[in-house]
Amino acid sequence: MPMYSEELLDEIAAKNDIVDVISSYVSLKKRGGTYFGLCPFHNEKTPSFSVTPSKQMFYCFGCGAGGSVYTFLQKQENMTFPEAVAFLAEKAGVELPSEEMSPEQKRQRDRKARLFEIQKEAATYFYRLLRSDHGKGAYAYFKGRMLSDETMQKFGLGYSDKRSDDLYRYLKQKGYEDDLLRDSGLVYINEKSGGKDKFFNRAMFPIIDHQNRVIAFGGRVMGEGEPKYLNSPETPIFDKSRTLYGLHLARKTRADAFILCEGYMDVIALHQAGFDNAVASLGTAFTPGHASMIARYTKNVYLSFDSDGAGTNAKLRAIPILKDAGITCRIIHMEPYKDPDELIKACGPEEYQKRIDKAENSFLFSISVLEQDYHMDDPTEKTAFFTAVAERILGFSDELERTNYMEAVAERYGMVKDDLRSMVLRLAAKEVSAGNVTHKKTAYAPEEKRTKNAPKRTEDTSAETQRLLLTWLADEPGLYPGIKNYISPEDFEEGILQTVAGYLFDQFEQDAYNPSQIVNRFVDDEEQQKVAAIFHTTIGEVESAEDKTKALREIVIRVKRDAFSRLRARTPDSDPDLIRRTIEEKKILKELETVDFYGVGGQ
Ligand code: UTP
Ligand code: MN
Repeated sequence: MPMYSEELLDEIAAKNDIVDVISSYVSLKKRGGTYFGLCPFHNEKTPSFSVTPSKQMFYCFGCGAGGSVYTFLQKQENMTFPEAVAFLAEKAGVELPSEEMSPEQKRQRDRKARLFEIQKEAATYFYRLLRSDHGKGAYAYFKGRMLSDETMQKFGLGYSDKRSDDLYRYLKQKGYEDDLLRDSGLVYINEKSGGKDKFFNRAMFPIIDHQNRVIAFGGRVMGEGEPKYLNSPETPIFDKSRTLYGLHLARKTRADAFILCEGYMDVIALHQAGFDNAVASLGTAFTPGHASMIARYTKNVYLSFDSDGAGTNAKLRAIPILKDAGITCRIIHMEPYKDPDELIKACGPEEYQKRIDKAENSFLFSISVLEQDYHMDDPTEKTAFFTAVAERILGFSDELERTNYMEAVAERYGMVKDDLRSMVLRLAAKEVSAGNVTHKKTAYAPEEKRTKNAPKRTEDTSAETQRLLLTWLADEPGLYPGIKNYISPEDFEEGILQTVAGYLFDQFEQDAYNPSQIVNRFVDDEEQQKVAAIFHTTIGEVESAEDKTKALREIVIRVKRDAFSRLRARTPDSDPDLIRRTIEEKKILKELETVDFYGVGGQ
């Protein structure tokens, strides 16, 4: 924990019952030991959002959001972790010691606060200029692009003056030092010639983060010219790979899906046309960071990238990234128009809505792009194409999904479904006998070959098994005394799993089981979610005690065996202890084969 002691965080959390806190945002109903309500983090009609007082945690079975009372406020109120701590401390009347923050941390926090201030000052300045005499040209430019006054205001559009140190002088006069201004990305400071603005004589687009703070700018030449857009460089408050233009507005719509496009003007035109769920990744490649930002709000995306070749490649790259974040995406076709802005300008919002309704499944889209590499009137190439398709279908781990895609592909290409099925089966058989795993995580990464991903998949499953064991233990702490005879935290992979296991085993040892305390040990948003998921997934409706015993035994064996092989990989062959250890390992594994964690005698 960077700033506050664990004891303090625990004390504050203990004084803020999670059910009370969440109740002021979500209407909760009690069922058994758990409260349920409609998830505030995604759109749903039946409650899958749960709050468990005994664990002091929340978890949504629909979108996977979960964590402690701190996590909840971070997500619900978009607070930072320290803000959530401060808020709850005040509520509970707990005094926060101010010396908990190191001087360096304080300095950085203050510096960031100043950088936010500067961006805001600049935004206000550009905004006013657009509406002044100097801004007439820019105003006409935006009007020429069909933007209403209301839209310009909503996006805080502005203008940067012709004079190349206009903003610099303004900010200096407001009292900001050169050093700080340089870090803002808005000016260049030169020893000899002084400060110069990065943006001048451009139509200005403030970039606003999901917490409604201006963090950067884009500036467009008004008319022709290079570069068409200039963007702020990355700064301590602007991380391109996690910033989506328009997110601060789209997140508020609670829409079932987001529309993902490429540019400033696309987002603005879409919002003006009533599609206020549009966001853009702003020219930079779409990253997993972007995907995880989207996944906080929705699991569905309409991909509305440009219709040119570059746009197609960008789509093929974005699809697996979205999929990995658990987001389903469909492709909006805009031909013959280049982008949403042009389509709407030419045909109006109704036509764009039609394109949304006709959006193509992303897998079928990737197949049709693939098809272009083959001469379909040549029988050999045609077979090669179908083999490639079969291989991709094999990438789906879900039987039903495979069947559905086989049907869809067969229908689209006028193929006999059973032919495709037997092709898929033959391929599967070949892969298994070659020792490959039967499926990989991403069904259709464009450039990657299946075999490259196969080893990674094994690691995933191993981690998955370890995770399952932790979940199981958290669900049934009574199993701990039996398990600890065989498993210790070192048997988990280094990193989050081992850390969580360490905390959990410690708590069991001290008879102080408290999962939310463990979640609070992780500051990072994504880590918190992962940890929360460990404690909130349940083992499922497991059947009889015999089945449970058997399943748990298999998991323990798997975890132990993987731990042994990781250890083995680190041990040199010359290690004198090797033979003795190997024999011991065998013995333990042998013993595990008959161990009965539930005491039911099931084999
Ligand atoms: P496009 O070239 O597709 O521009 O770039 P656009 O959005 O259609 O722009 P208009 O309609 O001509 O105004 C898409 C996005 O890529 C980034 C911008 O974020 C732009 O919105 N980009 C483009 C740059 O950052 N720099 C450039 O020079 C061009
Ligand atoms: Mn455009």
